[in-house]
Amino acid sequence: MNEVIEKLKKTGIVPVVVIENEEDALPLARALCNGGLPCAEVTFRTSAAASAIRLIKEAYPQMCVGAGTVLTKQQVDEAVASGSEFIVSPGLNPNIVTYVLEKGIPMLPGTCTPSDIERALELGLTQVKFFPAEPSGGLPMIKALAAPYVDVEFMPTGGINIQNVREYLSYKRIMCVGGTWMVKPQLIQEKRFDEIEKLAREAADIVKEVRG
Ligand code: 3PG
Repeated sequence: MNEVIEKLKKTGIVPVVVIENEEDALPLARALCNGGLPCAEVTFRTSAAASAIRLIKEAYPQMCVGAGTVLTKQQVDEAVASGSEFIVSPGLNPNIVTYVLEKGIPMLPGTCTPSDIERALELGLTQVKFFPAEPSGGLPMIKALAAPYVDVEFMPTGGINIQNVREYLSYKRIMCVGGTWMVKPQLIQEKRFDEIEKLAREAADIVKEVRG
């Protein structure tokens, strides 16, 4: 199995972060590492995303850092140049999937229907994001989709929190979950990195408890 996918499975929870100021990148990465979640999906919703990824990878090479909300080839190029180890998008754009795979790094496109999954399989993917997870039917929907597509593993994201994460992680076809609850933009903007570390630790403890 791809080594990045293995790291994501091992971490179990991928914090989905929005970094407005690149000066927040390192304290945030430190809090996540100290809390036991050495992983981040840095979303390309802000102009600081690429430089934040570069700074984090330089200072914390052990962290698994990917780019999220990647919608264009230009963003793929920026993400790869900054050291992103994986790419995530909210939906499945075959042109973007193919472009990322040509770069040789894992791509997790958003899916939420059988047709989306069949398109992903056709493009050679067996790991997909399931987005937006809770509004799209949550765990019962993932189980229903997992039945016919026996090789597919899911990264649900959207509406996952400390209350329901245990249930998601308990299902073996979920490779990992994504979420913002431990890295809420407000926590980052207010530089509450101790709080982020505490929330990361609480989340990492659930991964340990459920997955050993
Ligand atoms: C995202 O922002 O990509 C996801 O919707 C994260 O969802 P969450 O804020 O419900 O975790």
